[in-house]
Amino acid sequence: MEFTEQFAQQQDTNDKLKSFRDKFLLPKHNGQPAVYLCGNSLGLQPKNLGEYIQAELDVWAELGVEGHFTNREKTLANGTTITSGNWMPYHERFATDVSAIVGALPSEVVVMNQLTVNLHLLLTSFYRPTKDRYKIICEKKPFPSDSYAFESQARLHGFDPKEAVIEIDYSDGYYTATQQIIDTINQHANELAVVIIGGVNYYNGQLYDMKTITEATHKTGAFCGFDLAHAAGNVALELHNWNVDFACWCSYKYLNSGPGSVAGAFVHEKHHKSNLPRMAGWWGHNKENRFKMEPGFNPIESAEGWQLSNAPILSMAAHRASVALFAEAGMDALTAKSKQLTAYLEFCLQQVNATNAFEIITPSNPAERGCQLSLLFNDKGREVFDALTANGVIADWRNPNVIRIAPVPLYNSFSDCYRFAKIVSEVI
Ligand SMILES: Cc1ncc(COP(=O)(O)O)c(C=O)c1O
Repeated sequence: MEFTEQFAQQQDTNDKLKSFRDKFLLPKHNGQPAVYLCGNSLGLQPKNLGEYIQAELDVWAELGVEGHFTNREKTLANGTTITSGNWMPYHERFATDVSAIVGALPSEVVVMNQLTVNLHLLLTSFYRPTKDRYKIICEKKPFPSDSYAFESQARLHGFDPKEAVIEIDYSDGYYTATQQIIDTINQHANELAVVIIGGVNYYNGQLYDMKTITEATHKTGAFCGFDLAHAAGNVALELHNWNVDFACWCSYKYLNSGPGSVAGAFVHEKHHKSNLPRMAGWWGHNKENRFKMEPGFNPIESAEGWQLSNAPILSMAAHRASVALFAEAGMDALTAKSKQLTAYLEFCLQQVNATNAFEIITPSNPAERGCQLSLLFNDKGREVFDALTANGVIADWRNPNVIRIAPVPLYNSFSDCYRFAKIVSEVI
């Protein structure tokens, strides 16, 4: 590898996925494309996403309520014809694309609500504490919303969160070894109700070994789930084969579906016919007699059985546009490019960090990270971040002293990585 503009440009020329960059709207800085490395916070807008939403607005304008049951065809600017309308089974159109992203069967995924809402709905089913088994194990420093969810779930069942919620300690700096996770699970084995971990940690970017964690959890008799906010669309996932019980994720980061867009959930097929308790609503009710309006909840025997409300079609249309791009590119090609891009970014940063102005706290092992790198600064971190912003970099600041950056394989280039490191060298 070389830290030169020519080398980066050469890599971009050889990139099999290079045409995808042009399918996104890149933010500008002083009239020029910004160095956008913030797809781990808010993914960029696919250019044709508006057309997918407009298609549903047109159906609504033309047909009103009949749009729930009527198909319309629309040809997009790029020549693709999509079917719009028919909102009742709308999410079924992209269940296959979503399941391919998380390594699930189509029947195991459902797109609904927001991430924290889904986390609560799934914990309602999978956190069934008893007097003896009531503990929730999570990673060190989970995302605050997850912490609040765990605390409130413990309280809801009459437990003190200080006793019920166990954070796994780091084993070395900000790193948590898999063995440390297994040891913590075993240490609490007899009191454990559920393990729920962020598949990729939002702060340090560590990708955990979900297969091994799931196995270790199941040996104790507890359920195992993952918050995949930073993993879905970022790393290779095999939720079905890993035997994960449940998972949830948002769609506005790597899945590029827009701010606050509709989220996802996974329930392993082994639980579809179970009698786990759940929150129920009419959209989770058997589709054949949903409109008979009769009492007595009869859940759909798939992840869809966890739905409560009818679907937010405009948000779903955005999601559909975005996941179609994942299907086109393929997760294998995306994760292969992601590894190359991230390694190149890491290399460039090492070339400009002679004074040790920062430390990369994300694991250097490609098997233990996705595309996010977290740079830990000393007390000058905020100054550096502001200087980066003034120079056309869009990155992400996390208190107290971390800058998170993510070269996203769908739209970031090797030249973005080069430009970022060059600007870093000028401002540190
Ligand atoms: C790891 C993680 N969990 C939970 C959330 C909260 O998501 P939502 O606001 O969609 O509930 C986020 C948001 O960034 C997150 O990164």
